[in-house]
Formats: sequence, structure tokens, C-alpha cells
Amino acid sequence: MGVVFVIGMAGGAAFFEYLFYLQDSPYRYYPSVVGLGGLLAFALTLAVIKHRRLPRPPEGSWRGVGLGLDFGGAALKAVLLGAQKGGVVVLAAGQEPLPPGTVDADGLVTRPREAGEAARRLLRRIGPKKAHRVVTTVGNGSAVIRLAQFPRMSREELGEALRWEGGQHIPIPLEQAVLDFSILESPRDASQMTVFLAAAPRRVAEALVSSLRLCHLRPYALDLEPNCALRALTYASLAEEGSAAAWAVLDLGASSTKLTLFDGAVPQITRTLNLGGQALTELLGRELGLDPSQAEDKKRQEGLLEGTSARAVLWPQLEELFMEVRRSLEYFLIQRRGVRLRRVFLLGGGASLPGLAPSLQKYLETGLATRVETENGLEVIVASLDSSGNWNERSPRSKRNRVASLGPEYFIALGSALRGD
Ligand SMILES: Nc1ncnc2c1ncn2[C@@H]1O[C@H](COP(=O)(O)OP(=O)(O)OP(=O)(O)O)[C@@H](O)[C@H]1O
Ligand SMILES: [Mg+2]
Repeated sequence: MGVVFVIGMAGGAAFFEYLFYLQDSPYRYYPSVVGLGGLLAFALTLAVIKHRRLPRPPEGSWRGVGLGLDFGGAALKAVLLGAQKGGVVVLAAGQEPLPPGTVDADGLVTRPREAGEAARRLLRRIGPKKAHRVVTTVGNGSAVIRLAQFPRMSREELGEALRWEGGQHIPIPLEQAVLDFSILESPRDASQMTVFLAAAPRRVAEALVSSLRLCHLRPYALDLEPNCALRALTYASLAEEGSAAAWAVLDLGASSTKLTLFDGAVPQITRTLNLGGQALTELLGRELGLDPSQAEDKKRQEGLLEGTSARAVLWPQLEELFMEVRRSLEYFLIQRRGVRLRRVFLLGGGASLPGLAPSLQKYLETGLATRVETENGLEVIVASLDSSGNWNERSPRSKRNRVASLGPEYFIALGSALRGD
């Protein structure tokens, strides 16, 4: 932008200088034409920069205002999005702490009243006047995803079949579950089709709905964390669309860590690992004799940085977590011979732990038995966006917007808000 401005100014100055010196020359009109052309090009460039396309929502039809809510073990996160100039921008975002135990490690809202009150406080603070769609997520610990083969049939026929046979595919008794599905693309002449099944215990869904009712919100949809992560990363132009590339999301939350493996745009498997940020803070407090807020500060300042006392305490726990992540990745890659693992995205508040991303990168690169050779190597990326939804390499540059930047803990709420009509 600055460069265009300087070039434009210089062009304009040169133009007027020419006019001044060539007043009596028979060629005096030439510089005018060239100069005018230059100024026009300058103005056009400025207009293009100003109206540069805003990031678009991944799902075709998206209008109005969308509100995404993520009830986590530590905090409720909200992201409010609005349609603008053919794209979507973040209008507001915020989080409100949830009293311990309000949401358990499986993502079940055990105290809907507290959750609803927190939502009311948060919404009053970030101020959405009206949201067309309110979408919240079912925690990974409760949700079930499955890929299943069915004989080719219509959507209606499949819905009917699942009403009777759905229980064979999910580990929850059918009468206690909410179940949804989508048919994945397959060759026209194939006799079988692959179906993506998503399910959650009914009581988990009902607890979320009653939390929202308490603040007079009616959910448009309940979604799954992997779908939301995919949507948010696609919006940020980060997700791998090619089916030959596998990638993973590691969401480091307060009460647990969630690993999801994707093949192209389809989540394949998801695992919940027990270690969360809260346990790390408690461990630091115990080992170094610090109170909870001192321990939290120390964790955020030192994390896994070499030579710090925090690293000495945290590394054994995190190494165990990394080992579990590696095992899951290996298991997946061995089953899909030939599939390459390109990227691991780190989401959740724990992704901001200093030194975590490079330590995980090193650990995975040297350890993966099914070595993944790519031109760029395996990338471990901490997700972060500026308030217009642009990928910002973790350096927020927001100016007038109300939200300075969206850290990795907002990605699930962002992906919920991005859900289309
Ligand atoms: N800068 C930071 N460095 C290290 N840890 C951080 C940082 N910021 C936040 N955290 C940790 O992130 C955790 C909260 O993350 P997040 O909001 O994603 O969790 P949650 O969604 O509420 O929990 P869960 O997904 O387990 O239900 C806390 O444990 C907090 O200590
Ligand atoms: Mg979370």
C-alpha cells in the first residue's frame, strides 16, 4: 500500500513537472496523456487494494450474522461473524471463564445454569444485537464420528435405514443418541457409497440446548469440533483440500487434548487424550510451590523454553502426550500406505505454550516410523488469525477492529460461526 502511494505521488509530481516545463513545446500533450494514464492506474490500484476480497466462508450460502459458541473446560468462547462485501468478517469475539466442573472432560455441560449465565454475560459484553444462526459444538470426548459403507441409495432411504440399523455403527444405544450423516462423493457406477456418520449422546446435546435457552438463544445447529476446525482452517486458507494429503488437528484444551486426523476434507479418526492445560498448571504449582495464578503465569511465560524450570517440570508430561500423538499418527499412516502427512495444526489455548510447536515438530519429525517425506517437511502450525480472518503468522496487525486477533483457542467457535445456511 505504502509503495503504491509513493509511486503514485512520484508519478503525479513528475506529471506536473512535465506540464510546467513543456508548456511551449509541440510535444506538450504527450506527457499529459502518459501522466494521466499513470494517475489512473494508481487510482485503480488503490481501489483494488481497498476492495480486496474478504475471506469467504467455506460453505456456499452464508448470510447475515453468525454466532459460534464453544463451551470448553476453562471458558466459553464466542465469535460473531458478519457478511460484508462478498466475504465474512469477525465482528466480535470474547471469552468468559466457566467455573471448574461446569463442562467435564468429555464436553458434557454438567451445570447448564452456570453455562447459560456465563453465555449471557459474554453476549452482553461482546454485544451481538441479533444473530441469524447460533451454532455450538459437541465436545470431542462425547462425539462419535464413523465412516461406513452402505449400498448405494438415496438420502431419504439412508435416513430410514439408519433409523433401524444406525446402532450397529455407533457405540451409543440408538434411543439415547442424536445421529446425523452425510453421503460422501463416490464414483457414479460404484455399488457402494461411503457415509460419514456423526453422533452424540442425547443428554450432551440437550444440556447444550438448555444452556442456550437460559440466555434466550435457540441453536440453529449443533456441530462437531472436527467439522468446525476444518471450516475455520479452510476460511483461513490453510486446510489441505487435496485427497492425497493427510493432516491433523491437535486441540490443546484446558481439560483434555483432542487429536483429529483428516484425509483431504474428511475427518477420519478422532482421539481424546487425557492431558490438558489445567493439569499442567496444577503440576507446576505442586512441583515449584506456586499458587494457581503464579503457576499459570509461569506456564505462559516459560512453557517448554530451553533451560527454564517450567520445562524441567512439564517436559515429561508433554513428551508422553507427544508420544501418544505420534502413535496415533503412525497407526493411521500405516493403515493408509502411501498417504503423506503434511501438517499438524495446533489449536486451543495450550497451542500458545512457548516452545511447544518447535518441540512437537522436532519430536514428530525424528520419531515417526512411517517417515513422511514432503518437499517442505512436516509443518506444525499454530493457528492464529487477525480480525478480518487473515492468516497472520501469529503477529496481530489489526487496526480499528474491535477484536485485536483471534488466537488458537477461538478456532472451534470461529468454525461454528462459519457454518452456512
Ligand atoms: N499463552 C498460553 N500459554 C500456555 N497455555 C495457555 C496460554 N493461553 C491459554 N493457555 C491454556 O489454555 C487452556 C485453555 O484453552 P482453551 O480455551 O482452548 O480450553 P477449553 O476449550 O476451555 O478446554 P477443553 O477444550 O479442554 O474443554 C488453559 O489451560 C490455559 O492455561
Ligand atoms: Mg476446547
